[in-house]
Amino acid sequence: MRILLVILLIGSILNVSARSSCRTRTPTPTTEEMEETTTITSTNEEIEETTSTVPTTTLITTPTTTPTTTKTTTKPTTKPTTKPTTKPTTKPTTRPTTTTKKPTPKPKVCEAGWARVERSIGGWCLKVYAGVVHQEQASNACKRIGAELSGSETSAEREVIAALGKANMLATSTWKHGTVRVGISRPNTSSKWQLTDGNNNGGQMGIQWSPGEPSLGPTEGLPHNCALMWIWVPGGAASAREHGKYFSQVCPKTWDDRYRGFVCGKRAV
Ligand SMILES: *[C@@H]1O[C@H](CO)[C@@H](O)[C@H](O)[C@H]1NC(C)=O
Repeated sequence: MRILLVILLIGSILNVSARSSCRTRTPTPTTEEMEETTTITSTNEEIEETTSTVPTTTLITTPTTTPTTTKTTTKPTTKPTTKPTTKPTTKPTTRPTTTTKKPTPKPKVCEAGWARVERSIGGWCLKVYAGVVHQEQASNACKRIGAELSGSETSAEREVIAALGKANMLATSTWKHGTVRVGISRPNTSSKWQLTDGNNNGGQMGIQWSPGEPSLGPTEGLPHNCALMWIWVPGGAASAREHGKYFSQVCPKTWDDRYRGFVCGKRAV
């Protein structure tokens, strides 16, 4: 008896669920019809009026879908018009300049504390050191740090060395005048001056002499076959020599009677 009652109860529950499912099923055809009406009307511009009135009778989901479709249709029309007009005008002008700029700075950079100048061989890095050293000692000091005793290929480079020399003199001493040894020398007094750093075009454009220079010497029996840069700030010893310009002196000797320095140079990497 109990089993029969249970069966009857289950049976009644199933009927109720079947009816409820039937009720839910009936509205679905209307949604399909709705979609059809929306898709058809979407092609026309008057859709918005028809769709806004239709959802109120049956479903709320349809109005939410239709606004998104109308939004996507409006956005693409505005984007293509703005993009083509701005891009073609800006790209051709910026691209050629960036492609030409990129190859030069990428491989050629000077490390911190070194001043970069432009040479025929590319980027050249300069640093002035203080030291009472003669030509060979200065050259060896530069070689020890992977550099060369630097000359000046251009007048602009010479002025950079002058500025570095002045800064080094004021930072390392109380002197207001002195010299910076450079990689400029001649084999003898009858031969041409040469840049000895091995990274130049061999020209003489960076060799500017103070008045009356170069002199032949001798000093203490030695010829003046090395060029030195004169460094001077107001208060320094009066001289015909000009700040940042060269004068000739002996190569194998340097006197400790003023600021003394030397300039090292190496390729930018
Ligand atoms: C000076 O040096 C040059 C090489 O640069 C050489 O040919 C010449 O013979 C030298 N002159 C003297 C007088 O030594």
